[in-house]
Amino acid sequence: MYKKLICYDDILSTLKTGKRVIYIDNSTIITPEAKEAISRFKIELRRRIMRKPIIAGNWKMHKTLKEAEELANGIRDSAGNLQDREIVLCPPFTALLTVKNAVSSSNIKVGAQDMFWEDEGAYTGEVSGKMLMDIGCEYVIIGHSERRKYFGENDQTVNKKVKKALDTGLTPIVCVGETLEEREKGITMSVVRKQVLDGLKEIEKEKAKNIVIAYEPVWAIGTGKTATPEQAQEVHAYIRKLLGEIWDNEIAENIRILYGGSIKPENIKDLMKEPDIDGGLVGGASLKADSFLKIIFYDE
Ligand code: PGA
Repeated sequence: MYKKLICYDDILSTLKTGKRVIYIDNSTIITPEAKEAISRFKIELRRRIMRKPIIAGNWKMHKTLKEAEELANGIRDSAGNLQDREIVLCPPFTALLTVKNAVSSSNIKVGAQDMFWEDEGAYTGEVSGKMLMDIGCEYVIIGHSERRKYFGENDQTVNKKVKKALDTGLTPIVCVGETLEEREKGITMSVVRKQVLDGLKEIEKEKAKNIVIAYEPVWAIGTGKTATPEQAQEVHAYIRKLLGEIWDNEIAENIRILYGGSIKPENIKDLMKEPDIDGGLVGGASLKADSFLKIIFYDE
């Protein structure tokens, strides 16, 4: 549980869940009655590491130039000055430059939805990280489940792209997640484990902290079915543990892990309360300024 104000009732509800851990940060206030109960019931207070949240909009194959510009302007006008969270817009390649120009005088960042692992060459249809950097892109989504499903992306291609993105200076948002069948078979963790270990293989520690991971259960993408905050937290905590095994705990504590899959204004707040959920990768609800802004301002 994470709360800004912790009172006696919160201790009782924590005890009811059978858990003995409460997450706090520097702004958490604990009432005297709660403090007394915390020591009496031997509840552990764990400090939540403050990772700057990222709210990223994955526009997928949507928006003409005019539509893209309108949407970017709408988001910039209301959320352009935010400093306590990063807002990233990921339009299709054709609209990247238009969106970049629309948000260039704000704090909003721009990301691509994919990239290739070479700088240039005879690779018809591909776009390189160097080209993305050239137009001011800072992020790139890699290994989205739709790319895995329709375009032959796999953990090996993901690994090449992640390495190249990091070398080029882009922040990769690496997507992992299980299908419904895999979840029902009870193999969620081993599927995610393989995607994380193979996709992030042989990356030096100094570069690793720039990676962002998005846990996107395939069954939750575009289906209206969101993972519950508890389901998402369980996998996020597991991924963070894995990151600690690959590099070390300090790196693991600093890497941001986003949740994705039917995020809406109605469910983002509860997801963001979980200690290992550091933001969201939003598809459908990022296509309208109104709903995306509600997600961006999830804590108001
Ligand atoms: P969704 O898509 O929010 O429409 O489910 C999320 C994603 O695919 O990144």
